[in-house]
Amino acid sequence: MLPELFQYALTPTRHPAARRMGYLYEAIALSARYGRCRNQWDPHYARCREVIEAALPETGRRALVLGAGTLRDVPLTALSARFERVDLVDLVWLWPARWRVRRHANVRLVEHDVTEALTALMAGELGVPQPRWGLDGGYDFVVSLNLATQLPLLPAQWLLRRKVDEQAIDSYGRALMQAHLDWLHAFPDASVCLIADRLIETRAPGRPVEPVDPWWGVTPPPEDEHWWWEAVPRREGRGEARWHRVGVSQWHNLA
Ligand SMILES: C[S@@+](CC[C@H](N)C(=O)[O-])C[C@H]1O[C@@H](n2cnc3c(N)ncnc32)[C@H](O)[C@@H]1O
Repeated sequence: MLPELFQYALTPTRHPAARRMGYLYEAIALSARYGRCRNQWDPHYARCREVIEAALPETGRRALVLGAGTLRDVPLTALSARFERVDLVDLVWLWPARWRVRRHANVRLVEHDVTEALTALMAGELGVPQPRWGLDGGYDFVVSLNLATQLPLLPAQWLLRRKVDEQAIDSYGRALMQAHLDWLHAFPDASVCLIADRLIETRAPGRPVEPVDPWWGVTPPPEDEHWWWEAVPRREGRGEARWHRVGVSQWHNLA
């Protein structure tokens, strides 16, 4: 607990939502959970890195990875070797990630809200803008990495605490994910790789499997491949395991 408190106090953050809405808290909790679930998480992270490496375009100058967070699912060396510049985006960068990128002069950590909605949300506005950031950045390769279905989670908790109507929260969450998909499709002439949960199943002995749609009804692009990840092993979930079917979609945008 004490190391986590130090981490909370000592991690620099730029976006006010990082602390106010709980992104920093969640990033630290995610790191702690990784320590407890390493055996189940490492194969998932390795598969993400392999998929991204296999998807690297032959040529290209700039790469963008959205939701890079812990960097555990990012093939950093391969990206740094292939591109002139690699921009990694997340709302929170913990110190281990900051230290790791120092070895790569062409890799930049960007602290940015990919929804471009959180500042307005904290001011009480429920409109979801269409993100524009980076569209003129000349990115040849764009990866959305275990991020898309996470986008509505903390905003939904924030709105629930403020007693906002559940239907309004649902539409807001769906709009965030749809705007993210539309944004990915708007990077001109870019190869895009979307890695995201497609289905979540809660499994417990003697009980039927409970499936949950992590897209809240939004239709993601068809998946080219998938794997199952035991994101919450039974001992972590007090007798209930949570399995995520992680899917990969790849496409190339028009110039
Ligand atoms: C499930 S974690 C995935 C992190 C990393 N790819 C991994 O799997 O370890 C989701 C990441 O998305 C980031 N994130 C969530 N909402 C975001 C937003 N609106 N803008 C930027 N990053 C966001 C979180 O900070 C977190 O690092």
